[in-house]
Amino acid sequence: MNIEVYFSSQNVDELSLRDKNILVVDVLRASTTIATALANGAKEIIPVDTIEKAVKVSGNLYGDVVLRGGERQGKIIEGFNLGNSPSEYTEEIVKGKSIIYSSTNGAGAIVKARYAKNLLIGGFINISLVVNFIKNLNEDFIILCASKNYLFSLEDAVCVGMTLEKLCEEKNIVYKLNDGAIASQSLYKTYKRNLLKMVKTANHGKYLIEIGMENDLPLCVAIDSVPVLPMQISNTIKLQN
Ligand code: MLT
Repeated sequence: MNIEVYFSSQNVDELSLRDKNILVVDVLRASTTIATALANGAKEIIPVDTIEKAVKVSGNLYGDVVLRGGERQGKIIEGFNLGNSPSEYTEEIVKGKSIIYSSTNGAGAIVKARYAKNLLIGGFINISLVVNFIKNLNEDFIILCASKNYLFSLEDAVCVGMTLEKLCEEKNIVYKLNDGAIASQSLYKTYKRNLLKMVKTANHGKYLIEIGMENDLPLCVAIDSVPVLPMQISNTIKLQN
């Protein structure tokens, strides 16, 4: 079973992802926010890569059941209902709602992977469910890190490393890992003792602290704190029934 890790979606052609099994990882913060929204009862997340598309898609849906969420430069987009902090996506606000979601990197990576056979969204917050899904499927997988501005993101790579470490605990499955996967495992070994310190050191973590969103960081590294598995089902991101 091959596991390939790509540290950014920039140079990945969307057709090369067609019919593949894909896990998108965006620890800060798209994966965490999407999982939190669905765990709190959101009906579905509709990822879109541009603000223009978000406005267009929401125009076709009924106002009281739809919210627009996401960010640019980490901050709420003008005219949107919600920003990108997982703490905003409470049950009171999101229950039963369709959320049109546009974030700078995470939403773009999900959109790029939309022709996948299986498309999952994962992070530290749902890592055990992700690992079980991959183990049970027992087919080749691509792990696509959303990263920041198409560059390498430490927190995504460390999360991928932890995912691989947990997968490899199963001694009867042999994984063939690409260089990105091997590098992720090494990074996880280096940083695993203090994940909060790791995200505070990472570029995007530092940026979120700068803009006053430090409280999101512990939420994003809390292992298995949001035990749901967001998946693409009929073109939107949902939980399986
Ligand atoms: C993204 O998709 O780029 C991130 O989720 C950015 C953020 O932390 O808001």
